[in-house]
This record gives sequence, C-alpha cells and structure tokens, in this order.
Amino acid sequence: MSAGSGSWRGRRVLVTGHTGFKGGWLCHWLRWLGAEVHGLALDPPTEPNLFSVARVGEALAADVRADIRDADAVLRAMRAAAPEVVFHLAAQPLVREGYRDPLGTLATNVIGTANVLEAARQTPSLRAIVVVATDKVYENQEIAAPFRETDPLGAHDPYSASKAAAEIVAASYRLSFFSKPGDARIASARSGNVIGGGDWAKDRLLPDCFAAFAAGQPARLRYPNAVRPWQHVLEPLAGYIELAERLLDDTATGVDRAWNFGPDAEGDVSVSTLAKLAAEIWGPPASVVVEPQQDQPHEAGLLRLDSTLARTALDWTPRWYLRTAVAKTVAWQKAWMSGADMSAETLKQIESYEREMLA
Ligand SMILES: NC(=O)c1ccc[n+]([C@@H]2O[C@H](COP(=O)([O-])OP(=O)(O)OC[C@H]3O[C@@H](n4cnc5c(N)ncnc54)[C@H](O)[C@@H]3O)[C@@H](O)[C@H]2O)c1
Repeated sequence: MSAGSGSWRGRRVLVTGHTGFKGGWLCHWLRWLGAEVHGLALDPPTEPNLFSVARVGEALAADVRADIRDADAVLRAMRAAAPEVVFHLAAQPLVREGYRDPLGTLATNVIGTANVLEAARQTPSLRAIVVVATDKVYENQEIAAPFRETDPLGAHDPYSASKAAAEIVAASYRLSFFSKPGDARIASARSGNVIGGGDWAKDRLLPDCFAAFAAGQPARLRYPNAVRPWQHVLEPLAGYIELAERLLDDTATGVDRAWNFGPDAEGDVSVSTLAKLAAEIWGPPASVVVEPQQDQPHEAGLLRLDSTLARTALDWTPRWYLRTAVAKTVAWQKAWMSGADMSAETLKQIESYEREMLA
C-alpha cells in the first residue's frame, strides 16, 4: 500500500488538532498528496511547536482557531470547510494532565468528539471520518497478550477513560446516524506511543530526553520498566490515510470500525530501553539515569497492540523499525537545533517514508 494510492488531489479535508504534533505532520502529508487541507484547533499547545517550526500554516487552505467544546464554533468551521474527509485528532492527549484536570480532559475528548460528530451530521459533503483514539482505550489487565480490536474497552485514569468514552460515542453515532447507504462512514484508529520530530509535549519520554541531552544533563526516567508500543509518527498517520481511502471506497466493506495501528513486537520495549537507544544515537555525552521509584500516578506497566487486522485487511504495515524511528526523530531534532529549514526537513522525512511504502 502507499498512502495516496487513492487520489487526494483537490480533496477537501478537515484536520482537527492541526496545531499539534501529529496533526502538523498529517497536514503536511495530506498537502503533499494534493489535498485541500482545513484546520480546526486551539493555538499550538507548546512553545516551541511543530506548527510554527515546520510552517504547517503554509500547507493549509484555512486555519480556524476554535475550541471543540464549543458546538457552534465546530459547526461553523465544518460548514466553511465542507470537507469530504475529517481526521479528528484534537484532544487533551496526556495521561498526567488527565490526572491534573479530569473534567477538562473529559470535556475536550468526549464532548468535543460528540460536537465534531454532531457537526458532521449536518455536513452533506462528508464521506469519511477517522476518529483518532489510542492504545490506552483497552481495559488493561497487564497480561502479556497484545490487545485486539475486539477486546473490551476500559480505563484506569481519566485520559484513558475519556478516549474510551469518545470511541463509544463515535460507535453510537455510527449506528444511530451514519448507517444508511450513502452516509459518511466512521472508523476509529488506535495507535501506540508515537515518537517523531516536533513533539515538545510535557511528560513525554523523548522530548524530556532531548531537553536533557541538549543541556548536557542525563535524562531522568519515571516508569523505566513500563513497556509501550513505540512507533514513528508517520506509521499511524499512514494507517489513518489508508483507512480514509478505504472509507471513501464504496466497494470496501467492513471498514467502519475500530483499527489498531501498532508497531511490530520489536517496537514493544521499555521506557529505559528506548531512552538508552536515544542516548546512543544522539551520541556522547547523552546519558540516562533511572530515578528511584517515587509516588507517581498510575500508568500501565505493559501495553501492546495486535495490528493483524490492519495488516491483512488494509495492507498496512510498519516500515520504520525502532532504531530507524529513533534515528529519524534525533535527526529532526538536531536539524532544528542547527537552524535548518524544518518544513523542508519534515517533507524530506515524509518523502523518504513514502518511498519505502512504494518499495
Ligand atoms: N502522541 C501520542 O503518542 C499519541 C498516541 C496515541 C494517540 N494520540 C492521539 O493523537 C491525537 C493528537 O495527539 P498529539 O500528540 O498530536 O497532541 P498535541 O497536544 O500535540 O495536539 C493536540 C491538538 O489538539 C488541539 N486541542 C486540544 N484541546 C482542544 C480543544 N478543546 N479544542 C480544539 N482543539 C484542541 C491542540 O490545539 C492541538 O492542535 C490525540 O487525539 C491523542 O489522544 C497521541
């Protein structure tokens, strides 16, 4: 498969969360494929941020700044964009922030998703909606088997609860309002822990490591033994694009459902393994120390995804294994530190990923 094997040229697309990390990469990629990309989000969540650094605005036909908790604002943005495809990424995406602000997290992630779907009901141009979920939506008993799409949803912390609830909302809208032939089709996409250039979010592993490495300090790890499915940001984005193409294809059946887009088993490594790999690729004097375990809020110890369904039914497959994913992330970060043109660097990585999809 190649993202863009379906035609994106001139297709009107709305990306919510375009000022964020994954949304910024997605906008550049969709524009590169020829789509007319409209964005809806709050201002960039960090300083610095991918949106400014990689000049994501240049990829956009429209850049609407609005809160998805505001139903009227979402409807106005949807009407103005008149999209055929919506990629819904806007969210409060951090587990620890979910502990700090559970109600805000639930409002943005659950009511915000409902507002997007409600506006979608009133948008006749719409044919496909990809709701971006997470690996954390599964009820996690910390058993070794990776999660399949049919496993029960559940949550320990407010962020995971909000994303699981958003998926249930999306499934209910699919069954209640988007079930007739000709209606827009809704799918949800659960990815792993994403790494890549341009992520400066708080409490995320590689951004924290890079800040320490650049300051000549050792990176200090919380939860060093927690195992996560790590993958480069372009891996799940390829899945979202492929998924949208299938949703647009009236002959493709059984696509409007939940999909996992996780790495191969070699990407399921501990926090300390990933941080040490990042330090090795960064080069001296980068180093890592494990903090003595303190009283930290609960985070899952073991989380893995089974992506067999996407591999077999969507022909999606991971391309950049862990070392490559980390090396691309370090290369992007160092290019930024040296003052390079980060729009060009971002597009260079997208083109190189596309070449591997065609290989
Ligand atoms: N980064 C990961 O490892 C990861 C893993 C799995 C799933 N996800 C999901 O991917 C999506 C994007 O995550 P990210 O890492 O790019 O996050 P990010 O924080 O970089 O971006 C979040 C985006 O959402 C927007 N936003 C937040 N609250 C909003 C609100 N109330 N109204 C309008 N816009 C709002 C922000 O402005 C920003 O554009 C989220 O849905 C997240 O849950 C991320």
